[in-house]
Amino acid sequence: MEYSNSKPRSLLILFATVFLIISSCRADPDPLQDFCVANLQATDITVDGFPCKPTSSVVSDDFFFSGLSAPGNTNNMFGSNITQANVANFPGLNTLGLSMNRVDLVPGGINPLHSHPRATELGFILQGEVLVGFVSTANAFYSKTVKAGESFVIPRGLVHFQFNVGTGNAVVITAFDSQLPGVVLAPFTLFGSTPAIPNDVLTKTFQVDQSVINLLKSKFSGSTNY
Ligand code: GLV
Ligand code: MN
Repeated sequence: MEYSNSKPRSLLILFATVFLIISSCRADPDPLQDFCVANLQATDITVDGFPCKPTSSVVSDDFFFSGLSAPGNTNNMFGSNITQANVANFPGLNTLGLSMNRVDLVPGGINPLHSHPRATELGFILQGEVLVGFVSTANAFYSKTVKAGESFVIPRGLVHFQFNVGTGNAVVITAFDSQLPGVVLAPFTLFGSTPAIPNDVLTKTFQVDQSVINLLKSKFSGSTNY
């Protein structure tokens, strides 16, 4: 009796485990209709994503975006600029599960160590020569110098960077399997959060003294952007 009961139960546990693994590897959920242009002004409804504008007020411009056509301002400490085309500024992307960035890098410029909690990243080098790298959860570092016309992929959630190792400006176009991939930008997350992470946590974590932490906090506190 006990034997015959435990078999279906273990099968159920197996199916539940497989389902959990598969569902946790999915990107944004599939859309349930042709489109759901985001109503970015809706403050009274909270959903996972944005509520849809009524179809009667949807216009062609909701599905077009020119923001990636021009280089961004790279005059900052990293010598780089990330222009984003995600649901927050391109409402036609709502529920469609994808978005894009344009990364501009001056020679020696870096898109600093960061990760995207909700998306895998596929990159295409439009111009220049870029060292791209990421670190796996097994702490393996994978990297390559990628040239114009070549591509790379960064698995979801892994810490990565792009560093311009060429002599001219570089341009990278990145695509994501999420309408809003999210960015955890390591220097600002660790040393620029509000309120700040206590120094005791950071000195113990990085095995350095307070002066190092204070220096890093002085560089990155007060802003999540650059
Ligand atoms: C590049 O890493 C990007 O996030 O656009
Ligand atoms: Mn990225």
